[in-house]
Amino acid sequence: MSVPILTLDGPSGSGKGTIGRAVARHAGWHLLDSGALYRLVALAGRKRGLGQSDVQGHAALAVSMDVRFAAEGEAERVLLDGREVTGEIRTEEAGQGASRVAAWPEVRAALLARQRAFAEPPGLVADGRDMGTVVFPEAALKVFLTASAAERALRRYNQLKEKGSGASLSALSREIAERDARDSSRAVAPLVPASDAEVIDSTGLAVAEVVDRVIELGRRRTLWA
Ligand code: C5P
Repeated sequence: MSVPILTLDGPSGSGKGTIGRAVARHAGWHLLDSGALYRLVALAGRKRGLGQSDVQGHAALAVSMDVRFAAEGEAERVLLDGREVTGEIRTEEAGQGASRVAAWPEVRAALLARQRAFAEPPGLVADGRDMGTVVFPEAALKVFLTASAAERALRRYNQLKEKGSGASLSALSREIAERDARDSSRAVAPLVPASDAEVIDSTGLAVAEVVDRVIELGRRRTLWA
């Protein structure tokens, strides 16, 4: 029997991570944070001293790197080759590195099997940019989350501040706009809603309201009670 999948795609700061975690908890499903994998490839490349344009080297790392996601209460820990990198991969700098390696088709192809392996019973919530278009085109429910650029920058700013890393809102707005432009314009798996995706604009909505909408969409498709 095929595993039911909910895909959550959208630009940086649209709330995919927060909404995905809440919906996965509601459904008792597994969670794939695909952005973390791209962040890890970039970080692993830097740690190995790979050149910034070494496509094959990064693609090889995408297959061979040892990644573990360990849930610890509400928090998620990420380990790369046995070493904790949870904080290190969450900086905007790591996001920029991820966006650079994510434009290479070889790296995207190398991560496909790793991502699909997350589809385990009873179900999977997968968040990213191309979950509904490329990685899980057969997903039972596809959601595309958006929000105004100003609100997304502010959310990221608050998120980073909460984690104790200083950031300037104007620099962050610029970086996010740059990253979204690169993600949307790349030739392979660009950031676009799947033709059968439900688009939710979360500008001005509370987290709980967005979670409720997604849960209701899943209920209508009898994915959960
Ligand atoms: O979602 P997150 O901000 O962690 O993603 C970091 C970067 O990884 C994105 O800006 C994008 O370039 C890339 N990414 C991607 N495809 C995905 C998930 C992330 O290209 N499915």
